[in-house]
Amino acid sequence: MLQFITNLKVYDNIMKEPAQFISNLAGVKSSKFQISFAVPAINLENLARLFPGKIKAQHVDLNPPGPYTGSIPMEALLTYGINGSLLNHSEKRIQSETITSIIKKAESLNFELVVCCENLKEIKLYSSAGAKTIAYEPPELIGGNISVSTAKPEIISEGVKICENVGASLLVGAGVKTRADVELSIKLGAQGILIASGITKASDPKSALNSLTLS
Ligand code: G3P
Repeated sequence: MLQFITNLKVYDNIMKEPAQFISNLAGVKSSKFQISFAVPAINLENLARLFPGKIKAQHVDLNPPGPYTGSIPMEALLTYGINGSLLNHSEKRIQSETITSIIKKAESLNFELVVCCENLKEIKLYSSAGAKTIAYEPPELIGGNISVSTAKPEIISEGVKICENVGASLLVGAGVKTRADVELSIKLGAQGILIASGITKASDPKSALNSLTLS
C-alpha cells in the first residue's frame, strides 16, 4: 500500500492541541494510502496511546536508553508501540556515518525508518546502505507552493529506479498541495507522500487530507 505521512513539525497551531488536530483527521480512510503522522517528540507517548498504529517519530537517535540526555532511543519508541520514524529531515540533518549505523540498528529491531534525502547522491548512498524507505525532499521547495512532482519529475523517476534496484521504496515531499501533485508523484513511481503544510496549514485539514489521499 502507498504511504501518506503528515509531518506535524512543531507548528504553533499544532502544539496547542496535537491530539485534537489528529483526532479531526483520524477518521479519514483511504483505499490507496496508509495514513500516518510524524509528531513532535514531546507528544510521542501520549499520541501513540490515543492513535495506535498511526504515529511516527520525526527523529530517532542511535544510542540505547541510558545516560544520553535529550535522546530519542529506538527501543523507547518501540515500547510506546511506535515502530517508525523519519530520519535526517532537512530541518534535522545528521552525520552520514550516524545515519548508516541507525539504518543497521533499525533493520535488526524491525523498526521502519524513512530516511530523508535531498538529492540523488543521498538516495543512492542510503538505499544502498540498506534503508528500506527513502523520502526525497528538495529543501528549497519545502513549505512552498511548487510541488516536488512538478519541479523535479526526472529526479523522482531516477530515484525510483535507484530504490527499486535495491528493493527500497521512494516517497516524495515538499510543496505538495493538490490532488494533481499527488497523482503525478504516484504516476512517476513514488510509493507515497511526505507532507506538512498542505495539511497542517490548510483552512480545512480534514478535507485537504481527504482530497490528497484520493479518498
Ligand atoms: O516533511 C515534510 C515536509 O518537509 C514538506 O513540507 O510543507 O512542503 O509539505 P511541505
